[in-house]
Amino acid sequence: MSADPSLISVTAKVAAYYRQFTDIPFAREAAERIGADAAFEQILSEHGLDRDQLTFYAPMFEARYKSLTQLLLAGAPQVLELASGYSLRGLDLTCSGAIHYVETDLPNVVAEKLRLLEDLRQQHELPQSPRHRIAPADALSLDQIRAAAASLDTGQPLTVLCEGLIMYLSKQETERLAVNILELLRRFSGGRWLTPDFTFRAEAKDLPPARVRLREAITGVTQRQIDASSFEDGQDLEAFLARSGFRVEVRSQVDETPSFSSLDALALPPATIDRLRPALRVWVMTPA
Ligand SMILES: C[S@@+](CC[C@H](N)C(=O)[O-])C[C@H]1O[C@@H](n2cnc3c(N)ncnc32)[C@H](O)[C@@H]1O
Repeated sequence: MSADPSLISVTAKVAAYYRQFTDIPFAREAAERIGADAAFEQILSEHGLDRDQLTFYAPMFEARYKSLTQLLLAGAPQVLELASGYSLRGLDLTCSGAIHYVETDLPNVVAEKLRLLEDLRQQHELPQSPRHRIAPADALSLDQIRAAAASLDTGQPLTVLCEGLIMYLSKQETERLAVNILELLRRFSGGRWLTPDFTFRAEAKDLPPARVRLREAITGVTQRQIDASSFEDGQDLEAFLARSGFRVEVRSQVDETPSFSSLDALALPPATIDRLRPALRVWVMTPA
């Protein structure tokens, strides 16, 4: 049996913590309101980690978020985001424009997210958009993600997105996720699945020590072995996706990211991006 998935929720606060060092809309206020600093501090102090040695995570979270947003802006009439945590892309993209956005997470996160959205709408005097919905849904339950997507138009293409989820899943759960997404996409008139989440075993061997220690800390907190879902390499992943019924295209997160604001905010050298570039990918999958 896998550990309680709600233990993974604290990682959503870590992502929100790092996004506050960027110019991503609402990121700073969100981090403040959900107590991201305190949640991250608890992980650091319990595991003897040094915050200053981990600043390079900020451009990683920035690239991950911004590259996905760019891919959506390039053409996605409707989006289902799985495991959206405290990310505010749904709010941002439905403030203007025509995109329909449904975001989901586990019930405990959705309850806190609804309060956060309410606060931000009040603060920024934003009306509730009928094009933005938030619903609890376990990404591993086809019934629940289908119910979450029920308000979307099956006559239009759908983009399903998950960011920062697959690294906490087992191999079996990753297979279940792929089956669910394919099944859902088949009900729509075209569509795709976007994720930056796949990892390769060979690359995990070369991680800097500070990163290894944070991953160990996160494994302790979530009781999930990070990257249990890892693939051997790109070929292994492609074979898995082909078996699951997807064609795949790989893009560079760095190339899709219009600007890196966290470098200046944290006085990081531009070379940080070159060092991170090879591992920062985003996969675009369409039903075969
Ligand atoms: C690292 S956070 C990422 C959150 C957000 N996508 C971001 O980038 O900030 C992982 C998220 O996955 C959610 N999660 C874990 N297991 C899940 C499941 N089975 N179904 C839906 N969400 C899940 C957690 O609650 C958490 O919000």
